[in-house]
Amino acid sequence: MPLVTTTEMFKKAYEGGYAVGAFNVNNMEIVQGITEACQEQKAPVVLQVSKGARAYANHTYLVKMVEAAVQECPDVPIALHLDHGPDFETCKSCIDGGFTSVMIDCSSKPFDENVEITKKVVEYAHAHGVVVEAELGTLAGVEDDVKVSAEDSSYTRPEEVEEFVSRTGCDSLAIAIGTSHGAYKFTPEQCTRNEQGILVPPPLRFDVLEEVSKRLPGFPIVLHGSSSVPQEFVDIINAHGGKMPDAIGIPEEELRQAAKLSVCKINIDSDIRLAITATIREYFDEHPDHFDPRQYLKPARQAVKDMVTHKLIHVLGCNGKA
Ligand code: G3H
Ligand code: 13P
Ligand code: ZN
Repeated sequence: MPLVTTTEMFKKAYEGGYAVGAFNVNNMEIVQGITEACQEQKAPVVLQVSKGARAYANHTYLVKMVEAAVQECPDVPIALHLDHGPDFETCKSCIDGGFTSVMIDCSSKPFDENVEITKKVVEYAHAHGVVVEAELGTLAGVEDDVKVSAEDSSYTRPEEVEEFVSRTGCDSLAIAIGTSHGAYKFTPEQCTRNEQGILVPPPLRFDVLEEVSKRLPGFPIVLHGSSSVPQEFVDIINAHGGKMPDAIGIPEEELRQAAKLSVCKINIDSDIRLAITATIREYFDEHPDHFDPRQYLKPARQAVKDMVTHKLIHVLGCNGKA
């Protein structure tokens, strides 16, 4: 099947009480690892491309790699999405260049400015058969080159969502309920320790999510910053020359819970990066004489596939939903 928009997949996800995974793609091995997992698990998927990915890999290479995945995975509905589109021009370039979905992220701007730019993107996108994700509220963490501190982050205000959606006409809404970008989502001071001494982050604000959903019945909600930063990968990285102290993510049970509610798209990037880095670091330690990139990229690609398979089945619940 050709590339699809997210309309149908979100409708089914909302009604079915699961979420679709949105995974960031930057190179061939990542595209292959994700889509092979989705093909095997019969799961719909959003492949998303950030401004940084376009700068790294080039728009055309990324689109062509995704088109190759579409051909290789005939049973998988795949949407090609712009992640964190910073302005109208970037969104337009992706709409004109074959994407089926774009995010316009003006969440750091004042409400009326966010409405104005989002509306302009929606008008252009809808005229070209493309859907739009917008954002209200500010996540902490690192996205592209911008770092937002915990103090500068802010939860979505539920009292704003109806006006925002009706004025902009956006198709889905990313909200801030305590997730955060990157591998360092919380400082140890923000966390508590469980009986095993493991850091436990502050819980997501399900009250905010529920209030938003009450005001926007049936409307798809998106969670960014939803990597769980599995400790076993951080440990492998640290055991093989890496230095990632106090990396901490969102507990998987909380994401599972969100997926059962109105959250239809969950964004995961950092966990894929961790899987690749842990695998390659370990490989280099164990095979100091190897120098063919295929030797270490093969297990790295398999690690992406294993990580995504785990997410599809145990976090998102979208296996078998293609
Ligand atoms: O939210 C940000 C995503 O993880 C993409 O990261 O801008 O470094 O490609 P990037
Ligand atoms: P993570 O950094 O938690 O993987 O979040 C990715 C993301 O939100 C991409 O938009
Ligand atoms: Zn994000």
